[in-house]
Amino acid sequence: MKNFAKIISLVIVAAMCIALASCGAAPKTVDDIKEAGQLVIATSPDFPPFESIENNKVVGIEIDILNLLAEELGVELVIEKMDFDSVLPGIQAGKYDIGVSGITITDERKENADFTNPYFMAAQVIVVKEGSSITCKADLEGKKISVQTGTTAEDYCTKNGYEVSAFQANNDACSALTTDKVDAWVVDNEVALAMTAETEGLVVLEEYMTEEPYGFALLKGSDELVEELNKYIDAWVEDGTIEAIFEKYGTVYVAPTK
Ligand code: ARG
Repeated sequence: MKNFAKIISLVIVAAMCIALASCGAAPKTVDDIKEAGQLVIATSPDFPPFESIENNKVVGIEIDILNLLAEELGVELVIEKMDFDSVLPGIQAGKYDIGVSGITITDERKENADFTNPYFMAAQVIVVKEGSSITCKADLEGKKISVQTGTTAEDYCTKNGYEVSAFQANNDACSALTTDKVDAWVVDNEVALAMTAETEGLVVLEEYMTEEPYGFALLKGSDELVEELNKYIDAWVEDGTIEAIFEKYGTVYVAPTK
């Protein structure tokens, strides 16, 4: 009888542990962040002008915005680097406080993460080699396209039935085009402009394939923290602070439509 009671209590403890573990990490509040003294962001720094590495440092438009946010909260900004396809899973697992990676806010992603209000309106564009026969979206029919893994470009091109080659690193998606492994590279518009400025012989086509708002991603249930971040983001969209950051990087600013 004693043993039976012991077994039952062990089973109950085990069940409680499993229940707790499956609940996952708890969303953080503003106070949690302030207490920790750190805002830990997850980023894929292969996405100029939003985030890239220069002299071993992560720099870019979003890093400037996050530095401002960290300053407002009175905490240190801690930058964790990873491939783009690890950013959202890391946020979902509660490993990092904010996903900062030129992330497009989509309904599908909203099911698994919370998003701040958008701060910028981006688009997907087609990049080809100079002299390519591809001059618009319609010409992509039957062509090979490179994209970065886990991005909206991959999603869009796959859903539209193109032949897609996905690369974990954005630079590799670009190189696939320069080395003729694909006919076109689909990527976010400002990134296309920034990266082709450094690569000879590439052309960014004018036609937009999509329109996509950028925001920052948080663990689901972070309502209070999201609300606090939105206060600053909305104010900075209104008062030109964000636009001034874009100007600093020589990038044209397009305000989001809510
Ligand atoms: N905006 C696109 C998306 O959300 C691409 C983001 C890629 N970001 C990066 N840092 N490589 O899917």
